[in-house]
Order: sequence, then structure tokens, then C-alpha cells
Amino acid sequence: MTKYVIQGGSPLFGEVNISGAKNAAVAIIPAALMVDGVCRIENVPQISDVTLCLKILEQLGANIRAVNRHTVEIDCTHIRSTRTSYELARKIRASYYLIGALLGRFGQAEVAMPGGCNFGVRPIDQHVKGFTTLGAKVVVEGGFIHASTENGRLKGANIYLDVVSVGATMNIMMAAVMAEGNTVIENAAKEPHIVDLANFLNSMGANIRGAGTDTIKIQGVDRLRGGSYAIIPDQIEAGTYMAAVAATGGQILVKNIIPKHMDCITAKLVEMGVEVEEHEDTLLVRRNAPLQKANVKTLPYPGFPTDMQPQITAVLCLAQGTSLVTESVWNNRYRYVDELKRMGASIQVDDKTAVVEGVDHLTGAPIQACDLRAGAALVIAALAAKGESEISCVQYIERGYEDIVGKLRALGANIRVVEEPGENEELEAHIG
Ligand code: EPU
Repeated sequence: MTKYVIQGGSPLFGEVNISGAKNAAVAIIPAALMVDGVCRIENVPQISDVTLCLKILEQLGANIRAVNRHTVEIDCTHIRSTRTSYELARKIRASYYLIGALLGRFGQAEVAMPGGCNFGVRPIDQHVKGFTTLGAKVVVEGGFIHASTENGRLKGANIYLDVVSVGATMNIMMAAVMAEGNTVIENAAKEPHIVDLANFLNSMGANIRGAGTDTIKIQGVDRLRGGSYAIIPDQIEAGTYMAAVAATGGQILVKNIIPKHMDCITAKLVEMGVEVEEHEDTLLVRRNAPLQKANVKTLPYPGFPTDMQPQITAVLCLAQGTSLVTESVWNNRYRYVDELKRMGASIQVDDKTAVVEGVDHLTGAPIQACDLRAGAALVIAALAAKGESEISCVQYIERGYEDIVGKLRALGANIRVVEEPGENEELEAHIG
């Protein structure tokens, strides 16, 4: 069993290089399935979700070559199967992108539902609505989603999403790229990784316009050809390091980012008394003065990201005054709060709202990560806390943060990895 042991209470100083965006990578890698030829993908983050995606593609017959630590070449010219393995696909929520990619190129897909997932609890109804509007038949049988077309090709259509969904927008976009005729997605999500996926597909020969606005127009093409593409930097990884220095104090240079993507996070940290200096592709983040309370409401982009909600809540635990955090994207994203309370935080959760009363300090404790961003929040709390914390279930954190231990150490954090007897718990796919 792997744990992180953190001796907290010291400010962070130094530079951190941000990796490629997880939520772009886990869509772009499945999208490579649609390409007839070799795609070279650069700035691929080294995280376990990416490893899983690549394994799934390999099982389907893709030829994958690691060029270096962050560059892969994927050749999906000779795909053998349109049925994914249950064992692999169920472990990652993003396996739903395999449906859009396989259905779009081959007119059929059989993809295992992610673990614990069903249409009621973790809905993908908007994805399914998109596929059926494009002419597919979709049924769930034997733990698999079966999607098929009558003549092997989808037909372009107008689709209005009932909820703003990142996954549905990207999945429908993939499916429509090779459909016959034109598709319009309305009420589309606008996250940076949606623009990134569209740019990737366009660089392989697709014709997508309007990604990043709420209306995306896609003109179907016959095939996608090989090419080269670099994934955007990870907005949430960058935000997590910004939150870490906000909690501990100190000064760090966050490198290899797109500052515009950070605006929603920067604005909130500035409100809390953090200084942020913007440069071309870096942000200098400094906190010397006491933290001030702030109210935070998560919203689809360009609002404050839900994937930063646990981390900002960890910081607000140390702010002067009472802050209100409202989670408006996911139900049940406060499971980490009990762990923060064990460190001395004062937080009351009522449905979608957390009332955070700032305390003078947190105290190190044994704590357990329950998902990716919850894990990141606990790391931040532990870095700021007095004394030693021992974080278990860190495999959740490693799903989405490349070399978090090495990067924090380079900033002066006292963090080490310990291996103890016992198995790592098998990951639940959760909402990541
Ligand atoms: N929803 C529906 N029907 C659908 C799809 C979504 O009702 O068909 C609802 C969801 O229940 C949720 C809301 O719409 O309440 C938004 O869900 P969305 O589809 O946007 O989320 P997702 O695509 O499944 C991605 C990220 C999440 C991130 C959300 C929101 C990936 C692999 N995951 O999930 O990332 O929280 O968008 O921005 O891209 C994470 O990285 O830690 C993570 C959880």
C-alpha cells in the first residue's frame, strides 16, 4: 500500500512545470482511434488514466510507440475490434469517449460501462441522446453499451443538450466528425479541453467550427489522416499548485500554462489575498499576507471549475472569516470534508453548500483520499498543517497528477512516499 507522508508547515518556493491536460488527453487518445494513419501526440501527461487509455487502444489493435516520456505515436490503421475489454474500460470514466470514436469511424461500438456506473446515478443520457439523434441504435446489455448504425455511417443532425456536459459535447463531436452531412451541437460545454479536442481533430482533417462557444458546427468528412498535435497544459494541475502556495505561503512560478485558462481560478485567489503576476506562459504566485474569506460557486467554464472545488475549500479552511462554497455541477462532491475536519477544519455541509469557518491552523493527521481532486485537497491541507500527515489511497491522486511528489519536493515540500504491506485498494472510477 502506497502512502504519502507529509511534514507540513513550511512555505513553498521555486518553479513548477505543468504537464499536459488530463481531461484533454483522455479524450484525444480515444479520438486517435478515428484516424487512418499515425498520430503523433505531444505533451501527454504521465498519469495512470493515460496509461489505461493507451492499453485499451492497444487491445483494440492500435500500434503504440512511446517516442519519449511525453510523446506517443498511435497508429489505428488496423483496428481489430470495436469491443473494449470490461476489465480495463470499467476503471476509467472517460472510457465513454471510446463510444463516440468507434461509432464515428466504424459505425459500431461495444464499451463496458465504467465501474459502479449506471444511467440513473452517473448519467450519460445526453451522450446517448446525441448518438441516437445522429441515427445510432444504443442499448445497454450485459454491462456493455452497444451502439450501432444500420449502414455503418451516422447522419448529421441538430442536437440541443439539456444539460451543459463536457463529456457529451466531446463524445458527440467525435461521433459527428465522420457523419454524413452537417451536425450542430447547441448548449455545448466550453471548457479548454473541448477546444483542444476540436483542434486535434481539425489537425487530422476534421471540419469543426465554434468549439469554445455554445454552438459547435461540424461538417462531416470521409476520413481523418495522420498528423502531429500537442496537448494543452492542465488548467487544474496548475490551479492545484496555485492553491498549494496560497495555503502554505511562499512564492512559486507556475510554468507552461495558458494564463487565460487560469482566469477563473486566479480571480478567486486574488480575492483571497494571493498575489498573481501574469506573464506569457507563466504565473508568479505569492502569498505573504493572511488569507481572506471568499464565496465560491462552481460552474461550467468560464466559471470556477468543480475540479478545483476541494482544493479551494482546503485553502479556505485557513482564511480569516466564514466562506461559502457551492457545488453546482456534481452531487456528492464533499466526501473529503470529514478528512479535513480530522485535521481541525471547521466545515458544515448542507446538500450542495459547505460553510467553511476559517481556523488558525490545521494539524497533521492520518487521512485518506477518496478521489482524485479530494486527494489533491488533502495534500494541500497536509502541506499547510502543523505536524505530520499520512495520506492513504494516493493511487487516486496519481490518476491525474504527474509526479506530484517530485514536483512538490522541488518546491521545498517535505513529502515522501512510503510503501507498506498490503494491497492498494482497487480504484473506483468515480466521477473523474
Ligand atoms: N450529466 C447529465 N447527463 C449526461 C452527462 C452529464 O445529466 O449525459 C450531468 C452530470 O451528472 C453532472 C453534469 O451534467 O452533474 C456535468 O457532467 P459532465 O458531463 O460535464 O462531466 P464529465 O464529462 O463526465 C468531465 C471531467 C470531470 C469534470 C466534469 C465537469 C473528464 C474525464 N472528466 O466529466 O473531471 O468534473 O467534466 O467539468 O473529462 C476530474 O478531473 O477530477 C473530473 C471529475
